[in-house]
Amino acid sequence: MAAESVKSEALPQQENDNGDSKSSQKTVGSNGEAENQSVSKRQRKKQQKQQKWEEERELRKQKRKDKKQQRRLERHSHQEEEGGEVQSSRKRLRRDVTPSALRLLLDCSFDSLMLSKDVGKLHKQIQRCYAENRRALHPVQLYLTSLGGQLKQIMDEKDKGWVNWKEITIKSEHYKDVVAKEELVYLTSDSPNILEEMDPTKAYVIGGLVDHNHHKGITFEKAKELGIDHAQLPLSSFVKMNSRKVLAVNHVCEIILAYLEKGSWKEAFFTVLPQRKGAVAVDKDGADHQEKEAEDSDSDSETQQHTEKAQT
Ligand SMILES: C[S@@+](CC[C@H](N)C(=O)[O-])C[C@H]1O[C@@H](n2cnc3c(N)ncnc32)[C@H](O)[C@@H]1O
Repeated sequence: MAAESVKSEALPQQENDNGDSKSSQKTVGSNGEAENQSVSKRQRKKQQKQQKWEEERELRKQKRKDKKQQRRLERHSHQEEEGGEVQSSRKRLRRDVTPSALRLLLDCSFDSLMLSKDVGKLHKQIQRCYAENRRALHPVQLYLTSLGGQLKQIMDEKDKGWVNWKEITIKSEHYKDVVAKEELVYLTSDSPNILEEMDPTKAYVIGGLVDHNHHKGITFEKAKELGIDHAQLPLSSFVKMNSRKVLAVNHVCEIILAYLEKGSWKEAFFTVLPQRKGAVAVDKDGADHQEKEAEDSDSDSETQQHTEKAQT
């Protein structure tokens, strides 16, 4: 547009009073004449070009309009294909959001067991949980408990804005002092109990730990010690993992949000788990078929990517 207006303004300057570009040739001797003729030829060409540009202005405008309309139609039909879901989760309107009563606690009591670089990773995973919950269709009541130590230091240094986070309860207290014991269910891959469905009256706890499985079974042991319920996600019923079933904190959180939205564990797993080598969906009849894959990451690049995105 700016280029257009510059060009259209340039036009009158190159014409004389008669609007005739030829008459700009002045007769000032044979050498000067040749020079003037070549100048006016160039000017003529330029003017013709400008004229063409001006003439085609409406055409260009129309083309832009058509393209825009085309894109709008494509977007619309794509949304209809997806079951009439008109807003993407990112642009979700507030009126569509129905908060869930379900409580989800991120237990940050393992701070002293982690190296500083792993606490940094946990920080990104927590940011991811917060961001995903904020844009979820059925956001949970999110809690951070036992916040302190290295994690708090990193949050204070790298993300001072956390003090303004909304719709999250942040406590320095242990979760057992925040929620009644009978309402707690610790999510841990080592539990023999399979979580069939989620009970909105319960408070589910996720271990805030990035440990590369160096502390295998630690959350299961803690849950038993405290005498609270525990369960693992029903991964094995829907995904044949080619590695262990230990997921990163943000993946567990995202799976729960997706489950609340879709009402199906299978859909939730395959929506959230990153696509890497060889995870396989398990059919009802027990047969395997290749689909997306699951991962066991608490530190891999996919998680990294996700968590980095979450910061923006
Ligand atoms: C990276 S894992 C930590 C692994 C740690 N060694 C442990 O004993 O829990 C982070 C947390 O995500 C949750 N989690 C991971 N995979 C899970 C699964 N398959 N089922 C239920 N919870 C899971 C657990 O709360 C776990 O503490």
